[in-house]
Amino acid sequence: MALLIKNGRIITADADYTADLLVEGETISQIGEGLTAPEGARVIDASGKYVFPGFIDPHVHVYLPFMGTFAKDTHTTASQAALIGGTTTYIEMLAPAQSEPLREGWEKWTGLSEGKSACDYTFHLGVTRWDDKTETTLRELVGQGMKSFKVFLAYKGAFGIDDDVLYRVLTLARELGVVVTAHCENAELVAQLQRKLLAEGKTGPEWHEPSRPEGVEAEGTAHFAAFVEMTGAEGYVVHLSNERALEAALEAKRRGVNLHIESVIPHFLLDKTYAERPGVEGAKYVMSPPLREKHNQHALWTALEQGLIDTVGTDHCPFDVSQKAMGEGDFTRIPNGIPAIEDRVNLLYTYGVSRGSLSLSRFVESASTKAAKLFGLFPRKGTISVGSDADLVIYDPGYRGHISAATSHMNNDYSGFEGWEIDGRPDVVTVRGEVAVEGGQFVGDPGRGQLLRR
Ligand code: URP
Ligand code: ZN
Ligand code: ZN
Ligand code: ZN
Repeated sequence: MALLIKNGRIITADADYTADLLVEGETISQIGEGLTAPEGARVIDASGKYVFPGFIDPHVHVYLPFMGTFAKDTHTTASQAALIGGTTTYIEMLAPAQSEPLREGWEKWTGLSEGKSACDYTFHLGVTRWDDKTETTLRELVGQGMKSFKVFLAYKGAFGIDDDVLYRVLTLARELGVVVTAHCENAELVAQLQRKLLAEGKTGPEWHEPSRPEGVEAEGTAHFAAFVEMTGAEGYVVHLSNERALEAALEAKRRGVNLHIESVIPHFLLDKTYAERPGVEGAKYVMSPPLREKHNQHALWTALEQGLIDTVGTDHCPFDVSQKAMGEGDFTRIPNGIPAIEDRVNLLYTYGVSRGSLSLSRFVESASTKAAKLFGLFPRKGTISVGSDADLVIYDPGYRGHISAATSHMNNDYSGFEGWEIDGRPDVVTVRGEVAVEGGQFVGDPGRGQLLRR
């Protein structure tokens, strides 16, 4: 069925205008003034609303075995929550255990997601070990359109790699023209500091941040940048959380290192005092890199406004309260992560655009367009243009509400943003031309999502 969206204020990374949009089939077929609806088309009046390109979350964990347990979402719950929040494409971290060859991980992750996601998705291929098949598998999967890798400099013994593997991954990525995304914390430093703090009887969640202080991330960032520089590869720092790490990344960029920066919504809004709440209340806010001292938020917002931070993701990683409680008496056993896939767009809009000084164009660019460009999805995704996929968000800036676990669609029993006000929300969301969300409810096809080959 065709869809005519009338009188919306269309916002892309480089334009802001009022027009009608005609969607036929899965794509946008016309943009203009006074378009007429073809026979049988549904007409939506978007007067007073924004029409944004579907938002892209470049950093999501759905299936994730981690710290002896599993993240709680399925592709069904995560994708519907994503859509309700305006995210129409997510990039999941495919992160095999170190005991698992990449090929097995690929089969597991694609098997779990196939036919289960309501929106489109793709993967960053996590390289967590290097065996005699890794290179062949990576070449094959890149040939099949999986054009980004993921490495962890943290979590040794789980996902983390050493410098020898880092060099191999970057060298291969350079040859294949693939971006390497990296979690940049120095694993040895973290391990030493964890041991020291536990030996001193410092076991609560408030010690998570001191076990991986800003300098640990700054070192990891500079370290990764040095390897990107030496190999001539293209790098992408994930979830950069603080001013010192930002300075390290920007210093590398000034030298000409081909490096991009992602920060995630928790670090813009939550500070380390949340993780200092006693017991499991603090554990809810344990993620890595940790929530930081508040002054860092100002640095992140400023860098985002200036375009120095490229993308805003979530690092969506839901563990419930009982899982968070596994770390009672030992903060190193608290499963790391905060759920946010449903809330990223509304939070960035509210605290960036509505109540802050982030422009609408930077909002769209950082939460959609730039990820599409960096990860090979543009202009199919990430913009509003004739021929692009009709992944559209009709956004109501007049909506007023609150975030709460009680009304969330993520498979979780707490929200890190409980009670936070939001100044807008998606009214209608489409996935390749089909309405998937109306008035805050999922009304779409639960299996419509496709694995995007890039
Ligand atoms: O705490 C986090 N971020 N959990 C998910 C794994 C990761 O490091 O991205
Ligand atoms: Zn990470
Ligand atoms: Zn180093
Ligand atoms: Zn992550």
